[in-house]
Amino acid sequence: MLDALPDRVSVYEVSPRDGLQNEAAPIATAAKVRLIEALVRAGLTRIEVTSFVSPRWIPQLADADELLPLLSAPPGVTFSALCPNARGLERARASGLEEIAVFMSASETHNQKNTNKSTEASLRTFREVVSSALEGGMRVRAYVSTVWGCPYEGAVDPARALSITEQLLEMGCYQVSLGDTIGVGTPLQTRTLGKLFLSEFPQEKLALHLHDTRGTALANALVGLDLGFRHFDASVAGLGGCPYAPGAAGNLATEDLVYMLSGMGVETGLDLERLVEAGQVAEAVVGRRLPGKVHQAGVSSLRSA
Ligand code: HMG
Ligand code: MG
Repeated sequence: MLDALPDRVSVYEVSPRDGLQNEAAPIATAAKVRLIEALVRAGLTRIEVTSFVSPRWIPQLADADELLPLLSAPPGVTFSALCPNARGLERARASGLEEIAVFMSASETHNQKNTNKSTEASLRTFREVVSSALEGGMRVRAYVSTVWGCPYEGAVDPARALSITEQLLEMGCYQVSLGDTIGVGTPLQTRTLGKLFLSEFPQEKLALHLHDTRGTALANALVGLDLGFRHFDASVAGLGGCPYAPGAAGNLATEDLVYMLSGMGVETGLDLERLVEAGQVAEAVVGRRLPGKVHQAGVSSLRSA
């Protein structure tokens, strides 16, 4: 293991979306802008800033239409947002976004609970949404959730995720991010799943979206890196949560991922000190202690005398 590390990997930041969507207390739009600006200062060039989903389903992100006009992406920075249907695409277009992300689950029950649709219906919806977005000059990313396990069904047949991934890529999504949505994956499972996906698709078409609910996200990322994955989703300070496990840890923390990678000589283009600052902004924005390890411990163990 770790015999052939890459020079570089890319990090896709999801804290303003996957992180904030689970926060119960209302967060001011201006505070979201502060977080996103801090992420940009840390060097993140791909940031999922919100969702154009139903405000009734995700009230925390109901201000998406107000948020976007307050943001400006510097050259080289791409903002994206989740989009479940034609209405979401319409809103994303009106906001001037150049990239969206569609999302569905590998397991039938989670897809139904999360989007009120069967997986077949999601695929039908996305065929239209993705083609319309591409015609309009947008780029489209995609998520497949519950690849490692489903909170309702337990184990999920990997053949389901493979088939959905293939269809999303055929539609023209530039990359599919594979989600351990509820953070149940172990490194051995990640190795088995990772090998399977990398035997079917080129690595640049895939990303890993790991949640740290049970403390295995960084170990799973390391296994993925060793197998050949080069794209990782992460969230500063581990912001996020799991609607099925109140108080549980969130996504893989961006600082933890970058600390590990940069310590092993793998470049991400990110400034770790500034990421830590962004994590502090995230903590101030949500008003509670966040679980990221580097966020809590700091970058260096050295203390000034
Ligand atoms: P529905 O209720 O079946 O929608 O929800 P509908 O099409 O029947 O419409 C009902 C009402 O919602 C209508 O309004 C629509 O206009 C409105 P009404 O006529 O009653 O006033 N509506 C919308 N409004 C604004 N924007 C829209 C929109 N669509 C409909 N885009 C729907 C279906 C998919 C919309 C709903 O289930 C939904 O929004 N779900 C989103 C759930 C969500 O965001 N979950 C979290 C993200 S997924 C995730 O976290 C996993 C991930 O991180 C990866 C991983 O970890 O694995 C990505
Ligand atoms: Mg997620």
